[in-house]
Amino acid sequence: MKELFSLKDKIAVITGGLRQLGQQFSIALAEYGAQIAVLDLVNEKEVNKNERFSYFQQKDQIKCFKVDITNRKEVENILSEIKAKFGSPNILVNNAALDSPPDSPASENGPFEDYPEASLDKILNVNIKGTFICCQVFGGEMAEKKGGSIINISSIYGILSPNQDIYEFKRKNGEKWFKPVAYAVSKSGVLNLTRYLATYWSKKGVRVNTLTPAGIFNDQGEEFLSEYLKRMPIGRMANENEMNGAVIFLASEASSYMTGSNLVVDGGWSAW
Ligand SMILES: NC(=O)c1ccc[n+]([C@@H]2O[C@H](COP(=O)([O-])OP(=O)(O)OC[C@H]3O[C@@H](n4cnc5c(N)ncnc54)[C@H](O)[C@@H]3O)[C@@H](O)[C@H]2O)c1
Repeated sequence: MKELFSLKDKIAVITGGLRQLGQQFSIALAEYGAQIAVLDLVNEKEVNKNERFSYFQQKDQIKCFKVDITNRKEVENILSEIKAKFGSPNILVNNAALDSPPDSPASENGPFEDYPEASLDKILNVNIKGTFICCQVFGGEMAEKKGGSIINISSIYGILSPNQDIYEFKRKNGEKWFKPVAYAVSKSGVLNLTRYLATYWSKKGVRVNTLTPAGIFNDQGEEFLSEYLKRMPIGRMANENEMNGAVIFLASEASSYMTGSNLVVDGGWSAW
């Protein structure tokens, strides 16, 4: 039983591995024994200069690669580099994504009727096309080698619509603010990409699942927190390490009978 969650001898690719959840996932999978390829937009030299990444710097089992996941050639080149450094990957966490943070240009957080097509393109390009390319390149390699686990990261806003009432306080303060459409649409797309690939690769030993988190605490303002938490059964936002158990479970043999599923870790958000 102790070995059930072990990732010894596994090689994991984590996209967007330098920020909030991706960094957590990289550390958690490393702690369970995997060798880790962190893919993000920053090169390893920059990572090594920054003390926020001291864990990565201390571990030979972690290597950071600069890659834009929307660029197929770059992703293919990185697969070759990962194979040379560690071997063929058997875990992929599709974590990199763009959202529209509250400080985005007003047009991105305005009424749906005015939402810019260019913003839709930008977000779908990373969240759907980037995820799709990583599945083709790394998942294709796993299918060829007959084994692996892919974890696609969605969001509660991919299974449910954002509740615009939460943001009423902004509109009362005179902003025309709405949680935008593109992120929510992209995160729903991830769910069916998961189901498509789970059945497509079912005979090749590649399991594909979605992990759906709710909001992670990141010093959001008090007005937002007060509105959001009124609707959150568990009464608080998630800590950034509270998705790690789910990702280790999905990556390891502990979830060997699970594919095409969506593991919702949302403090009860979707329960009412
Ligand atoms: N943070 C939350 O509250 C929350 C809630 C639900 C779901 N999620 C999901 O969890 C995942 C991680 O969220 P986060 O808040 O840690 O995100 P984040 O914005 O902090 O980090 C995303 C990372 O992806 C990288 N990235 C963006 N575009 C890229 C590209 N083209 N190529 C390579 N890397 C790229 C960024 O550089 C960044 O390091 C996302 O898929 C997000 O949708 C987050």
